[in-house]
Amino acid sequence: MLEGKNVNLRILEKEDLPLLAEWFNNPEDFGDYVPLRQMSKTEVEKILESPNERKPFIIEKKDGNKIGFITHFYVLHVAGRQLEIGYSLLPNERGKGYCSEAVKIMVDYLFLSKDIGRIQAQTDPRNVASQKVLEKVGFKKEGTLRRNFFMRGEWRDAYIYSILREEWKEPKILTRTA
Ligand SMILES: CC(C)(COP(=O)(O)OP(=O)(O)OC[C@H]1O[C@@H](n2cnc3c(N)ncnc32)[C@H](O)[C@@H]1OP(=O)(O)O)[C@@H](O)C(=O)NCCC(=O)NCCS
Repeated sequence: MLEGKNVNLRILEKEDLPLLAEWFNNPEDFGDYVPLRQMSKTEVEKILESPNERKPFIIEKKDGNKIGFITHFYVLHVAGRQLEIGYSLLPNERGKGYCSEAVKIMVDYLFLSKDIGRIQAQTDPRNVASQKVLEKVGFKKEGTLRRNFFMRGEWRDAYIYSILREEWKEPKILTRTA
């Protein structure tokens, strides 16, 4: 468990699968800026078999309510591996600072536990809330990836953001890793 002030990040467990399937399969839950996809129960169960470095973390409030998830994954590149994050929160839990805290915890966790120099994230240019989250955590916008995603029936550009280890400097929330 990675503990913050208002939210904790807890790695996905079997008991979370029905809720995760419900979230993934309900396009209303995560809005216009995440891919529309449908996943069978079996496909969702397979996520549990993936290595920990590909399992989502559930974002929980301090009372144990599950309000969203945050993932980290490696993007393969011929010259190495790039670490990227993605996140989503249930509509009625947005705008309360929870995602910014979750991203801060994740950034602490990744720089403390992995020998990486940068963490990146991509957002739809219209997704102002996501860009604000990244900027609040110290990510910098690097530029625009043109026609990067096919989503909701159209090609979309993406803004790419990153934070470097030297910009992060030190843990903001976590003082140790599990
Ligand atoms: C993006 C998302 C995770 C942000 O979560 P959140 O908990 O609302 O984020 P926070 O409360 O930590 O911060 C959001 C900031 O954006 C602002 N914001 C929210 N909606 C906004 C909008 N439509 N336009 C402008 N600013 C907006 C908030 O006011 C806040 O800024 P502030 O702290 O300066 O007041 C959430 O909106 C979400 O789950 N969206 C759907 C899924 C998604 O888009 N995921 C990201 C894919 S890249």
